[in-house]
Amino acid sequence: TTVVADTGDIEAIRRFQPTDATTNPSLILQAAQQEARRRRLAEIARHATDIDDALDAVAVEIGSEISALVPGFVSTEVSARLSFDTEASLARARSLIARYDRHGVGPERILIKLAATWEGIQAAKVLEREGIHTNLTLMFNFDQARACADAGVTLVSPFVGRILDWHKAQDPEADFGGDRDPGVQSVKRIYEHFKGHGYETIVMGASFRNSGEIKALAGCDRLTISPALLGELAETQGTLERRLSPLGAETRPPEPQDEPE
Ligand code: E4P
Repeated sequence: TTVVADTGDIEAIRRFQPTDATTNPSLILQAAQQEARRRRLAEIARHATDIDDALDAVAVEIGSEISALVPGFVSTEVSARLSFDTEASLARARSLIARYDRHGVGPERILIKLAATWEGIQAAKVLEREGIHTNLTLMFNFDQARACADAGVTLVSPFVGRILDWHKAQDPEADFGGDRDPGVQSVKRIYEHFKGHGYETIVMGASFRNSGEIKALAGCDRLTISPALLGELAETQGTLERRLSPLGAETRPPEPQDEPE
């Protein structure tokens, strides 16, 4: 399992040294409030033409800084306001890539994050053909994941926590621990289907609420984890890479060797 930090917080990236990082507009806004960057980012936003332009400028500024610290992908999201508009999503995605290019960050380092709506998936299909990698998010079920894989997207982010939140609200007394967590079940089903059918699309579990969910999905291609949960796992588990084992693989003792005749 490749560990991904779900944050725009540069100090957290330095501390946890993930392979990739994922951001979304609220994580970017949080990161932009940090004392060390606030003034510089406010100045950048001041030159923007509108609110979306300001958010993109700040997201790319922070994303470029992150890209110098991680070896893998940085995910930058197209505003969720555009989730039902394929053409507007395409324009925004291309402009994010052009902005990254002006910062010297090539498209091979960026995942454009789009909502896994029908319109978002159509936009991703076009972008992938243009050589722009995509990460399809806001994914709550198997059918969304299948449609994304069929469209040839680079990565899907099936959610765990927001599914659990919904089930908990329906049934506050139920025990959703371990494998009974409906979000964990959803990601496992997607992962096992993709691996069973030879899909190349990377599966990255997202939206975690507790470290139990992360351990239950150990072995998934990638998991994107908040700094708070990365801190908890580092304290209680040692390094994640050492602990995570292939999804579904049983840990059996080695077979006894036959005695030589
Ligand atoms: C990552 O792709 C998502 O933006 C993030 O994991 C969502 O997490 P949340 O459900 O805690 O907002």
